[in-house]
Amino acid sequence: MTTGNKASIISPSHGTPVIELCNVSKTYFGKVEVEALRDVTLRIYEGERIAILGKSGSGKSTLLNLIGLLDDPTSGKVFIRGKEQSHLSDRDTGLFRRYHVGFVFQFFNLLPTLTLRDNLLLPLELIGERDHRFLNRLIEKTDLTDKLDRYPEELSGGEQQRAAIVRALVKKPAVILADEPTGNLDSQTGHTIVRLMNEICNDFNIALIMATHSKEAASICPKTFRLRDGRLIPSNHTHGYE
Ligand SMILES: Nc1ncnc2c1ncn2[C@@H]1O[C@H](COP(=O)(O)OP(=O)(O)OP(=O)(O)O)[C@@H](O)[C@H]1O
Ligand SMILES: [Mg+2]
Repeated sequence: MTTGNKASIISPSHGTPVIELCNVSKTYFGKVEVEALRDVTLRIYEGERIAILGKSGSGKSTLLNLIGLLDDPTSGKVFIRGKEQSHLSDRDTGLFRRYHVGFVFQFFNLLPTLTLRDNLLLPLELIGERDHRFLNRLIEKTDLTDKLDRYPEELSGGEQQRAAIVRALVKKPAVILADEPTGNLDSQTGHTIVRLMNEICNDFNIALIMATHSKEAASICPKTFRLRDGRLIPSNHTHGYE
């Protein structure tokens, strides 16, 4: 699954994290100043699966936005495969995000005017990839084969979230960022979805960073951190909800 463009982007280097945040802080300067992240250091290696637990407002989405290169820190440094982001061109950062970062959101965010098939083909079209074999494997694995002609509103929440996972994974990114992927599902469906996402990422050596308030969902990931008032603290697994 290589295209001319993809080959030119920041290539993997053995033992170097895919993305690294070093002493990163983020302050929002609105009517009131909010210190959303404080001195966060996090290294994400190839294939690593990490849960970020935290209450509402603790900084989870802010952290995912920085990891996903959607926003810049107020202070601290972000490295992409060992290269400091601020030294890279906007084009290279954008290409890295397009090819190597996949997002899964709480509200699925499928395009309502496209069938499921076209929703899933879109990320491949955006990177000029014509090989659909991996997509077909993912569709089979997530049991969506007989739903491809339906529109998102004709799918259940669990089916929409499985589709959103396929959409994020289909370009074989280096990192999947999942922001409350179970937040809009009943707990059993949510659990199945997180297991599936974890299994596929493990099978294909894709790093998974999942923000959640559910300790049960977090317990599926081998590594867990807790965000408390913008500070990131290593955490042990226990079951239940925040
Ligand atoms: N664009 C913004 N401008 C100002 N403050 C913001 C902005 N985005 C987030 N915040 C504040 O930063 C803090 C962290 O927000 P964030 O969205 O990262 O939390 P979260 O852990 O994702 O919460 P939730 O579980 O409710 O999604 C909160 O106090 C929030 O009010
Ligand atoms: Mg959030």
